[in-house]
Formats: sequence, structure tokens, C-alpha cells
Amino acid sequence: MRSDNSLLTHVGIIMDGNGRWAKSRGLPRIDGHKAAEESIHEAVEYCGEIGIRYLTLFAFSTENWKRPRAEVSFIMFLLSRFIKRNVDNLDRKDVRIRATGRLDDLPSKPRADLDAAISRTESNQGLNLILALSYGGRAEIVDAVKSLTEEIQSGRKSVMDISEEAINSHMYLPDVPDPDLIIRTSGEIRLSNFLLWESAYSELYFTDVLWPDFRRRHMQEAFVDYKSRRRRFGDIDGN
Ligand code: FPP
Repeated sequence: MRSDNSLLTHVGIIMDGNGRWAKSRGLPRIDGHKAAEESIHEAVEYCGEIGIRYLTLFAFSTENWKRPRAEVSFIMFLLSRFIKRNVDNLDRKDVRIRATGRLDDLPSKPRADLDAAISRTESNQGLNLILALSYGGRAEIVDAVKSLTEEIQSGRKSVMDISEEAINSHMYLPDVPDPDLIIRTSGEIRLSNFLLWESAYSELYFTDVLWPDFRRRHMQEAFVDYKSRRRRFGDIDGN
């Protein structure tokens, strides 16, 4: 689903560079993930303040399960701790916590904490903070194709009903507009399986800043850059 051309409604962030940040300080990788929390705070605060409607953070990919078991466990611990420490404050700020990805893959503790935060903030009307967890763009497309195929097999839909809209309605969060802007930190210039279907017309912004160093001024720079672009959605005049 496309959002208005002139507005910045949905921002996605690939939070990369935690490991390199730690390594450059002679620290273990997990310290980089720990330091990432402050950047998440600033991003959420800033987006809330300026009225961004959706912020999707790529916190854990389907590929990240291949990392050493201790690092995976620590990231899951950080997720639980982040939710428990921040849910009161986020709720007060009218933030709605949501998640996208193969959430059934998550260990029971972080999954329960996440579910509780999602239910508690369900009716909030402010920023939608979407945590992409065990998320992969290809996995999301596979899951959408499976559930659409089930509808066809059951006779509720026919092959003729397959359309972009029908596929979209089977994605994890069909009500969320496509990201207008995707930011990736740490100098890598690729999407790495983030929101593949949804990013068809997203503007992409890459910065060398490592995620634990990413502050509101960096976000402002990304937004100024975005505003200077003319989005055409394949059209000649941007309509
Ligand atoms: C990328 O840096 C970061 C990750 C794969 C994990 C991100 C996880 C968090 C920020 C913490 C958990 C989430 C929440 C919501 C508290 P990298 O390790 O790939 O860095 P590198 O490329 O420099 O090695």
C-alpha cells in the first residue's frame, strides 16, 4: 500500500554496525548490541515527536539465527529487557508496539514479553513501533503465497483473484503502508532481505555511521535528504 507522496509516513531502519562498533573499541560484539539501545530510544523519541506514523526496526533477521548461540541468546535477552524497561514509557507516549516476522520462532520468554506489550499498547494512536524479529522479506513472501494458496485450495478464492492487492493482504501487516524511506547504517549498501515486497518504491538512504553512534541529528539528515527527492512511482510527473 502506497502512502502520500509528500509525507514521510513510514520509516524503516536496518540497524547495522553493532559488531564493528564494539570491535573498534576492543569490546565483545554483544556490547555493540547493548549500546544499540540508546540509538533505538532516540529514533523512537524523534519519530514520535515529529509525527512519523510507522517506524520499523530490523532487529533480528531469519539469517541471524545462524550467529553463535550466545550472541542470539543475548539479543533475545536484550529484546525482553528493552520491552520490560520501556513499555510503561512507550504506552504513556501513546506508542503502539507491533512486530513483524516469523514470531513463532522466538523463544517463549521474549515472545511472551512481546505479546504482552503488543496487547497492552494495541489501542494507542501514536507512533507504530514495529519490531522486525525473525524477519526475512523472502520468508514473508513465501508465507503470503502459502496462505493465499490455502484460500484458493479451499475455494474461497480463485487463481483469477491473484493480484498485487491480494498478495499484499496476506503479508504480515497488511494495514501498514509501504515504507517511504529505508535507512541503513554502517556503510553497507544493500537491503539484506528487509521488506522486499514493501520497498518497491521506497527511497533508500545509506550512511557510514554505525548504529550505536546513530543520533537524532543523523536521522534529521536522512529526513532532509528524503524531502529533497522527487518520488515518481514510475510516473513522469510524480503523481
Ligand atoms: C546488526 O549489527 C544488528 C543486529 C543483527 C541485531 C540488532 C539487535 C539489537 C539492536 C538489540 C535487540 C533489539 C531490541 C529491539 C532491543 P551487526 O551485529 O550485524 O554488526 P556488524 O555488521 O558490525 O557485525
